[in-house]
Amino acid sequence: MTDTILVVDKLKKYFPTKRGTVKAVDNISFSVATGETMGLVGESGSGKTTTAQCVVGIYPPTDGEIRFKGQAVSKVFGKRPKSLKQEIRIVFQDPGSSLNPKRSIKQILSVPLKVHRVATKKDNLTKIKSLLEMVELPPEYMYKYPRAIGGGEKQMVAIARALATNPSLVLLDEPTSALDVSVQGKIINLLMKLQQDLNLTYLFITHDLSLMRNVASRVAIMYLGKLCEIAPTVEFFQNPTHPYTKMLLSAIPVVSQEEKALKPTKIASRGEIPSPVNVPPGCSFHSRCPEKMDMCAQDDPVMVEIGEGHVTRCHLFAEAKTTAPIA
Ligand SMILES: Nc1ncnc2c1ncn2[C@@H]1O[C@H](COP(=O)(O)OP(=O)(O)O)[C@@H](O)[C@H]1O
Ligand SMILES: [Mg+2]
Repeated sequence: MTDTILVVDKLKKYFPTKRGTVKAVDNISFSVATGETMGLVGESGSGKTTTAQCVVGIYPPTDGEIRFKGQAVSKVFGKRPKSLKQEIRIVFQDPGSSLNPKRSIKQILSVPLKVHRVATKKDNLTKIKSLLEMVELPPEYMYKYPRAIGGGEKQMVAIARALATNPSLVLLDEPTSALDVSVQGKIINLLMKLQQDLNLTYLFITHDLSLMRNVASRVAIMYLGKLCEIAPTVEFFQNPTHPYTKMLLSAIPVVSQEEKALKPTKIASRGEIPSPVNVPPGCSFHSRCPEKMDMCAQDDPVMVEIGEGHVTRCHLFAEAKTTAPIA
């Protein structure tokens, strides 16, 4: 049995707005095993960032629980112990806005070292050099300001800042989607190397499903605040079940002949994502689903287990009556 580092249990995060309540995250459950890369994939607005923000403690959940290494952490919102903030770190999508332009790289990296007492004043400089080396940047970069370096380099600094506290869980919120295609691969390779070297666990958030093939050990698909399907990566690409998963998969390029044979035939993406203020009753995907049945407009399906570590939330699989444990 692998060790579970994070459990997200029936998490809800609603935002009251003038237009009504935005159900950004609506009753999602999943777990992350120590040392794995869990891919959390969904279109823009599906609730990925809000999920990460609840896990890292930026927002208190509306309901549900988050457990880190067996301890409920959502209940201590606002009073998270420093040790917890040191263990769970986040890398944001846009390093351009996440790095303070008025501070040098040295100042930026000094903050977590000081706050979390990772380095004394005396060895601060040595530690900064080693952090820069870790993300493959030359030591003299510490005297530069964010505006003087490229987008990929900025993200490397943001990664170094996240790793400065020796975390065990790192949330990567679309870490490459604001970057030039030319540097995306470099950042992904660096992240994978750092994971090996430092025994890190990743929750890797992206809208780019094809990226997950070589990166994630498991993939979870999110749509309009809810999870549709979770499966180990190989199983996910070979045996997708949820109509939304199939729609996403039919839109990405294949890498081999075997995959070509398995790939769902092109399913046209139909309809717009409904507003999260006005989520339709029944299955939230029914308005776009090519396999819609009558019941789908009334009943919201529950997550059922259909294989080893493979769960799906669709009425087509209702006969697999076993309500899934948290996958
Ligand atoms: N602070 C907020 N107030 C109101 N609505 C929000 C807030 N943050 C996010 N949302 C809404 O919640 C939904 C999910 O957003 P988000 O988690 O950022 O999705 P993603 O990261 O998948 O693109 C969106 O409809 C977004 O507009
Ligand atoms: Mg986001």
